[in-house]
Amino acid sequence: MKDILNIITEGRNKMAGSRSWVFFLTVCAVTLCEANAESKVTIPVGRFFTYELLRETFQNDFEPLSKLYSGYLYDDPMIFKCNRQNYPDLPEWLRFTQRHPYDNGFLYGTPTSPGKSVIEIYAINKRSYEATRLILVIKATAEKMLPFQAEFFLKLREIEKVLPSSVQDEIKQDVQNMWDAEALEIVNVTSALDRGGRVPLPLPGHFEGVYVKVGSEQYFSHCLLSVKTTEHQKQCREGDTVKAPKGCEFCSIPANCITWCQTQLFDLTKRKPVPPPPTVGSGILEDGGDFSPPESPPSRDFFPDYIVTVIVPLVLAIVLCLLLAYIMFGRREGVAKRNARTNQIQLYHHHTIHGNADELRNMAGDRGAPPPLSTRSMFNSRTGDRASPLQSDSPSIPLIMAQHDPYCDTLPRK
Ligand SMILES: *[C@@H]1O[C@H](CO)[C@@H](O)[C@H](O)[C@H]1NC(C)=O
Repeated sequence: MKDILNIITEGRNKMAGSRSWVFFLTVCAVTLCEANAESKVTIPVGRFFTYELLRETFQNDFEPLSKLYSGYLYDDPMIFKCNRQNYPDLPEWLRFTQRHPYDNGFLYGTPTSPGKSVIEIYAINKRSYEATRLILVIKATAEKMLPFQAEFFLKLREIEKVLPSSVQDEIKQDVQNMWDAEALEIVNVTSALDRGGRVPLPLPGHFEGVYVKVGSEQYFSHCLLSVKTTEHQKQCREGDTVKAPKGCEFCSIPANCITWCQTQLFDLTKRKPVPPPPTVGSGILEDGGDFSPPESPPSRDFFPDYIVTVIVPLVLAIVLCLLLAYIMFGRREGVAKRNARTNQIQLYHHHTIHGNADELRNMAGDRGAPPPLSTRSMFNSRTGDRASPLQSDSPSIPLIMAQHDPYCDTLPRK
């Protein structure tokens, strides 16, 4: 029994050993692969940098042998995720853009300070959902700033269409002609969307617009300086369609034509010197003697304030109360007294109005109600009697002879 156990444990140990070997080899292989998937670039500070993520190369990583075996190279949609190694985001100066999974991606930007950035790029195949990784090491080296810089706005462009190096060269060539200088460098390229521009309508002929900043050691040409003339600025203020100054139309491709009104010149030689930093003290306050508390302020008489804010409103309120009370209770007279003072015929008229109103209300509540009494002054609909014509014009005798009408209860009783 013991022997068998021993044999089993030994076997296990051997298996574990072989497994750890496999693991070790895998780690080595992965490390080697990763070492392969690393590229390094060195760029000067203050110059525009682009790195195109070619889908074709990543496609080779996903299916390295497919071409060999099937003679067919896939063209899969791909998306990229880029970030600084061990950080969630890209460095501040670097941006990534890819219009569509079937387009190449671009990393672009202008480094502002020397240093090394390690960028991790994950490519995800949207067909098979495989992923692969590339490490990009960007080393920025210090470089002198170009003293004369000009920024142009290309209205008919999108950032992805400007980033391929061939397009950058075309733009540079136009600017070289305009500037009359060979030594030019693109300093910055940004989408107008990153500078507060609006997303264009998804229609042909609508573009985001791209800002291209170019720098040179050479001073601006007269074409560029014409932007600074008051005449040009006035034209720009009046209308948008300002033509290029005479003899300065240097755009070979319509899409690369610049918007003259949005051209800006930067002369870095004229920049104000940076103000000196504030001097740092020892961090200990000087001795200022003993603390003497301030004397208590002089006393104030609050009585007038009290009168104005409390007593006066209170008196006003009481007066108003008394006035209201007198109006409400002191000036009332009884209904009987008022009736006695009223002319008989007026009182009767008043009562008939009340009675008619009541009658109408009752009739509204019941369909079978008798016709209104007020319609029976001359003819009683119930008895068929005709009322006798009026014999007296005394004001105390009502117009309607109510004595004959048993239904009428609206008459004043005498
Ligand atoms: C490039 O342009 C962007 C957007 O306007 C700006 O944030 C960035 O600072 C610029 N870079 C340089 C080096 O001028």
